[in-house]
Amino acid sequence: MAHANENAAGFSHEKIETSNLLMIVLILLVLAIGGIVEIVPLFFQRSTTQPVPGLKPYTALQLAGRDIYVREGCYNCHSQMIRTLHSEVLRYGHYSMAGEFVYDHPFQWGSKRTGPDLQRVGGKYSDEWHRIHLNNPRDLVPESNMPAYPWLLTTPVDDASIGAHMRGLRRVGVPYTDAEIAQAGEQIRGKYEIDALIAYLQVLGTAVK
Ligand code: HEC
Repeated sequence: MAHANENAAGFSHEKIETSNLLMIVLILLVLAIGGIVEIVPLFFQRSTTQPVPGLKPYTALQLAGRDIYVREGCYNCHSQMIRTLHSEVLRYGHYSMAGEFVYDHPFQWGSKRTGPDLQRVGGKYSDEWHRIHLNNPRDLVPESNMPAYPWLLTTPVDDASIGAHMRGLRRVGVPYTDAEIAQAGEQIRGKYEIDALIAYLQVLGTAVK
């Protein structure tokens, strides 16, 4: 007698359910299709691929600061991703939009908030505030558990590799001109890491009001 699961074409669901390999392969196939349907359109949508109006590529100094942000692991405690929830928008400002990150390679969205989100911290404090805070957060916020970064005030910024870094970014779509790249090292020579990091923090999120 034919099995109850068997249809007219003679196909048995039991074949799949009793074969680990077939089951795994077919599950992966279904997931892959679902994933492709969700992800592929994002590569072609204007809102995810075009910069928001007013977004500028990082200057040499800001870019050097961004490298320090990454090196020091600030993303371990700070996100740069404001969710669309009412409470987040009230606290941090306009929610994050994909078009704000098109020049970020890699983006610093983060996923851990020991400290506050920093996506719109640009312009919130003075440069002097950041200088004191980064040197020792407890001087300004007594209960802070953020580490102190005193060496940033005495370490000159690396001006030798910045041009190559900008050339690399240009390859992945950041519109730096030859002149900007040629002048980059010159522009940041003699600055300290603290200057670069503050320049980066002060531009964060400022393209969107
Ligand atoms: C161990 C977790 C931790 C790390 C790592 C860390 N922070 Fe913080 N950060 C905090 C906490 C907690 C606060 C809130 C208290 C304060 O203002 O010090 C904070 C506050 C801040 C603020 C003020 C934000 C606001 O809106 O008031 C800035 C700016 C900041 N951090 C920048 C940085 C930078 C830049 C780095 C990397 C060099 C960094 N943080 C690394 C935990 C951290």
